[in-house]
Amino acid sequence: MMARRTIAAALCAGLLTALPSGAQETADPARQIEARRALMQAADNALLTLEDAAGKKAGIDFLQALIHGTTLSATMKASPLLFPAGTAAGGTFQTTAKAEIWNDRQEFEALFQHARELADQIAAGGSAETLGAATAELRTVCTNCHEAYVAY
Ligand code: HEC
Repeated sequence: MMARRTIAAALCAGLLTALPSGAQETADPARQIEARRALMQAADNALLTLEDAAGKKAGIDFLQALIHGTTLSATMKASPLLFPAGTAAGGTFQTTAKAEIWNDRQEFEALFQHARELADQIAAGGSAETLGAATAELRTVCTNCHEAYVAY
């Protein structure tokens, strides 16, 4: 047992030193900005698809709610991790994120939290009516955050 653990630890240490230097670049702010914008685009596509379905007679169905709700939840969960200090608009980077984000960090994160709760609710399914209502509410949260924290 002990020996196996020692071997595992040695293997881990070996792997860590063998990691390519590029692995550290995941913390590169320019790449984090690129990633957060890509997540926002994915969220937008998912929400637009749900809104389109909600506007039709049959409304959002179970599978649409599951697929797009899951995407929306994942994007809203990961996004707050991609706003490191020093990545506001007006600096070195190409971004529309307002500096206020880092003054109102709790408020900013609470909006993401609300968005992910609604997305989880959508993913869990429901009637066309409740799914339509949750979709509309989610759009309001997206818009509220953008109005406060995005410099268009
Ligand atoms: C808590 C705040 C917040 C929430 C919630 C939020 N966004 Fe954003 N969104 C931002 C910020 C900040 C940016 C600017 C990112 C940048 O330029 O670095 C942005 C950018 C975007 C963009 C432009 C991306 C690009 O290519 O520049 C789209 C599209 C978008 N959001 C869609 C959405 C949708 C859809 C939702 C809701 C499901 C949503 N966002 C929820 C803060 C938020």
